[in-house]
This record gives sequence, structure tokens and C-alpha cells, in this order.
Amino acid sequence: MTQYPINMDISPVVEGFFDDATNTISYIVRDPASTSCAVVDSVMDIDYAAGRITYDHADALIARIQEQGLKLEWIIETHVHADHLSAAPYIQEKLGGKIGVGANIMVVQDVFGKVFNEGTEFQRDGSQFDALFHDGDTYMIGEMQVFTMATPGHTPACMVHVMGDAAFVGDTLFMPDGGSARADFPGGDAGELYDSIQKVLALPDETRLFMCHDYGPNGRDIAWETTVAEEKAHNIHVGGGKTREDFIKFRTERDAQLDMPKLIIPSLQVNMRAGEIPKDADGNPMLKVPVNGL
Ligand SMILES: [Fe+2]
Repeated sequence: MTQYPINMDISPVVEGFFDDATNTISYIVRDPASTSCAVVDSVMDIDYAAGRITYDHADALIARIQEQGLKLEWIIETHVHADHLSAAPYIQEKLGGKIGVGANIMVVQDVFGKVFNEGTEFQRDGSQFDALFHDGDTYMIGEMQVFTMATPGHTPACMVHVMGDAAFVGDTLFMPDGGSARADFPGGDAGELYDSIQKVLALPDETRLFMCHDYGPNGRDIAWETTVAEEKAHNIHVGGGKTREDFIKFRTERDAQLDMPKLIIPSLQVNMRAGEIPKDADGNPMLKVPVNGL
């Protein structure tokens, strides 16, 4: 098993930005010892019916970074999202920073390159990103060391990024009353997801966990921060000592009932390109809809 360089003495400043349209939380994470920061899981606004892209959510992040005089070093994608579009290239153009994702992006690109019948000009080697992470890799935000944990199951390229006492869990976990994300997308696996969740729950109990999504189950207010201890005790899918077998059975049955996310078709095409919108033969931005292809 990978030995991770846990350092609970560093406590980054974390600010969450909730996107109403997709129930996504984007984050600005700041190294407490410098003005360096990272963005985790940004969102580009889309009116899919109209084919219209705008940047209100990303502009709010950019404005916040600028007003604090921060230096953006990293733009992190915890995975290839299927329910919202990344604004990583837009933010990079305005503020700089490197775009990073899990190295298993290549698996995702291979699968969905076929689904969307992409030509040979679509590279399946992750080269659209500036950095590809493997389990246990480290990188710096200012003076703060970050490490990555490979957490496949929801998708093959899922990673949790641990920054001091804060972990950005992507769709590995939801809030305790939300449970876990689906594991039925191509390349997903409920057993793998259970194992990945156990890796997260093996972090110190007081680790702050930051979600990528929240749907406010049972009418509660939207929330996005919890702890390892809370998840271990109360997560409705994996807490209180639920077994791997229980989880696989439950997750598989539940996933069979779920509709496809509303924005899966544009999201995958854009996010597997690190947030770039694909172009047609004339160089115009254009999205495809594979009929009965998903
Ligand atoms: Fe996701």
C-alpha cells in the first residue's frame, strides 16, 4: 500500500463556490504560508438547449483570486465530470496555472473517444492536460505539499487531492446523508469505489473533507464540508461498518434506477479535452450527440 505524506499541521484556507445549475462546488484553496492558491473543479455555464456557453461561475472565482492578490498555480480536476463542464482553460487564460488530472484520463479518453467517434486528431494520451497524476504523486502550492490518492470506482481517473488537513474528494464520497456517487458509468466499478472510499476513510479522523457535489437530501441546506470521523460514523452507504458486499449490492441496484445526468453528453466531450470545446472541420466550436450511444 502507498505510504502517503500526511501533514495535518498545515491547514489551507478553503473557499467553496456552489453552482446552482449543477449542484457542483468549486474551490479556491490557499496555501496558509504564501499567496499561492489552486482551483479545484471549476464550472463553465452552459444553456444546453440553446448551445450557449457563459462564464459567470468561473468569473466569480477569478474575481475572488484577483481581489485577494493570489497567485494561481494549479487548476485541478478531481475527475472527468459527467454533470458539468470544466472552465479550466478559461481560468488558465486569465490567471495562468497548470491543469492537472489523474493519469487514467487516458482510459476515459479511449472509452469516450469511441463513443463520440472522435477522429485521430483527438489524442488519447492525456496531452491536453499540463500534468497527469499517479497514486502517491506530490506537487506544491506555494510552500504546501499536496499528495494525490487514486480513487477509481466512480470513474477510472478519479483522484482525491490531499492538501494539509484538507482533502478534496471529488465524487468518491458525498456528505454523510448523501452517501456515495454512482459507479455505473463506463469504466466505473462499485467494488473499486468501496475500496477507494476506504482509502479516504483511512486518513486521520479530523481531516476536513470537501465534496464536489451536494443535493441537500431531505430538504437540508446545501453543505460541502465534513470530516473523516463523521463519514465513518454516519455515511449512509459506507459508514457504521457496512461491508463491501452490502455496498456493491446496494450501489448496483440503485445505479440501475438512475437516469443519465442531464449534461453528460456535452460534459464528457469537453472535459476529456481538459475543458476545451471540440471543433468541427472548419474550426468552429461544435458538440455531437451520439444517438443510442451511451
Ligand atoms: Fe462525477
